[in-house]
Amino acid sequence: MMSNDFIHQAGFLHGGDYNPDQWLDRKDILEEDIRLMHQAHVNCVSVGIFSWTRMEPREGEYDFEWLDEVIDRLWKGGIHVILATPSGAKPAWMARRYPEVLRVNERRERLLFGERQNHCLTSPVYREKVRAIDTALAERYAAHPAVILWHISNEFGGTCHCENCQAAFRNWLRKKYGTLQELNRRWCTGVWNQWYTEWEQVESPSPLGEMSCVSLRVDWQRFMSETCADFIRMEKQAVQSAAVKLPVTANLMERFWDYDYFALAETLDVVSWDSYPEWHSGDDIARAAEFAMNHDIMRSLKKAPFLLMESTPSQVNWKNVNKLKKPGMHTLSSLQAVAHGSDSVQYFQWRKCVGGPETFHGAVVSHNNRADTRVFRDVTQVGEMLERLRPLAGTPVQAKVCIIFDWNCRWAVDFAQAGLKGQMRYFDTVNGHYRALWEQGISVDFCDMRACTDLEGYSLVIAPMLFMLRNDFEKKLKEYVSHGGTLVMSYFSGLVDDTDLAFMGDTPHGLTEVLGLRVEEMDALHPSERNHTMLYGKQYEIADLCELCVPEGAETMAAYQQDFYRGLPVITRNHYGEGQAYYIAARVEQAALNAFYGKLAGQLALRGHPFADLPRGVTVTVRGNCFFVQNYSGVQQTVHLPCTFTDTLEKTEKNGPVALEPNGILVLTRTTKEQNTELMIDKD
Ligand code: GLA
Ligand code: ZN
Repeated sequence: MMSNDFIHQAGFLHGGDYNPDQWLDRKDILEEDIRLMHQAHVNCVSVGIFSWTRMEPREGEYDFEWLDEVIDRLWKGGIHVILATPSGAKPAWMARRYPEVLRVNERRERLLFGERQNHCLTSPVYREKVRAIDTALAERYAAHPAVILWHISNEFGGTCHCENCQAAFRNWLRKKYGTLQELNRRWCTGVWNQWYTEWEQVESPSPLGEMSCVSLRVDWQRFMSETCADFIRMEKQAVQSAAVKLPVTANLMERFWDYDYFALAETLDVVSWDSYPEWHSGDDIARAAEFAMNHDIMRSLKKAPFLLMESTPSQVNWKNVNKLKKPGMHTLSSLQAVAHGSDSVQYFQWRKCVGGPETFHGAVVSHNNRADTRVFRDVTQVGEMLERLRPLAGTPVQAKVCIIFDWNCRWAVDFAQAGLKGQMRYFDTVNGHYRALWEQGISVDFCDMRACTDLEGYSLVIAPMLFMLRNDFEKKLKEYVSHGGTLVMSYFSGLVDDTDLAFMGDTPHGLTEVLGLRVEEMDALHPSERNHTMLYGKQYEIADLCELCVPEGAETMAAYQQDFYRGLPVITRNHYGEGQAYYIAARVEQAALNAFYGKLAGQLALRGHPFADLPRGVTVTVRGNCFFVQNYSGVQQTVHLPCTFTDTLEKTEKNGPVALEPNGILVLTRTTKEQNTELMIDKD
């Protein structure tokens, strides 16, 4: 079975986390739920995520009868099931009997039983127990026609510092460096006399011990990330040990920092993630650009459509201010995911819990058990829309632009003791470049510096703050430009190698010829300090970081206007081989990035849509033959349609000026056949 075959069978998935094990004493509720699911156009639910003790009340004694009944009844009602492995929350009996499954924090304190996703991923006991229950689940349910996908655990995250993990870390280091001498050299341990003379002296980072060695900290993140990947592989093998091999996913998270998702995604058949944007809490346009980027990163992890595994149908209950979604926002936010490549809109959760920590978290069905509510109507509307958009399910998104977003680099930037301590803002910096393209409705892929990354085929590659270079990535960039590509690189790039050793020689390492300049120094600005620059006849602000570059062939497009480095370049352009490379030496304001990429987009013909002059806060996302026109501005806007389109949701024809409500969305296709085929993209 192909990894996303189920999409072609079921169409877009619509549904969410469903916890009928909380209602086993209320048989009527399951029946009622199935009836309401039909009413809401729900076709898929995720079950079993936190059900381990229900499934295995005592060690080795399984009870699956209740689950048999749930899955059978759902399937009789035509509802597909994503079946979870329960490893996200361990049973109390296990914690008491085998304390080694409990995590140890960085202060070396062993945690007590409680909460979730806080078990040791190296513990042999934990792995054995998980393998056993996963195998039992697979034997029982892999062939069930309702079950379409394995949901491995839940939101993996965090680290464990127990003795098992320390030993595994030392082994990992031994494999990586071979000898302690090499480790000492790569980590440069001699500087503060941190030489290790026996492997046992190496400890994971701790506020009680070592926190200043960036290479140690980056290696620890890599190790924990690989440990998680290995744990997923173990679970995957267990659930795929049955005769019927269903695809697996694990639900990932937004802006997630702990693990390298590009590496983790290699273990998954389908990427899925949980999206909880904080709408109406500040700037919705910025929020939309941030979540568009989150979606695009998720799609890029496997360069394939992904699943929106969780989102709230109304509000969450764990933020400081738990806002409701204003009218329109539920549909807009759900279809934003679809526009960026999601094959589902799933919620946390279907029915509100009667008690526990999430009693007041939004759900499709509230405690009042009614279908005539605002939230239920919103959800139903999304279900109907997904049915109308069905031909789009499984369609990939095409992008001409690729932004480098690398977890290793991110960790290194965040740990770096340079520039602005703790304020280097890697994610936000990448998002600034992304946003300039998003506002123009330009599709973007992301990639990292893995050896398999292929840049050929992109018209534009953007490398913001590429501080750490690994896998000779500079050579890839050089080749890409020399073959005719356009590269944009920013300040704080090409400074250290894979283990945080500074490159000796001119920087950005390996790219000075490509960029036609070398960077000599970097100034950091106090929060209130500003410099300025002129770009295309307009003045813009500069904050935070200013590099002092020496041009060696590059042409200066914008220069500093103040301070002793007045006149030195802020933005440069250089021809190299068949291509060109731009360098942005300072943190220019968003408007400057918008202007810069606006020009570039025209020159490189990056827009995949015919809309010109989109109002502020309105963007277009293209997937297949559909144009998703979205209004995040908070006010009504007029969009000028450049030709006649079919409104796929309303099934009407539209042209000329069209009013778009606050939080409104239009899904348009071109009306003539040729125009449609021209934009039709072949499915996988
Ligand atoms: C996370 C978890 C869910 C639930 C939601 C609430 O995403 O995976 O189990 O707690 O948050 O928003
Ligand atoms: Zn551990």
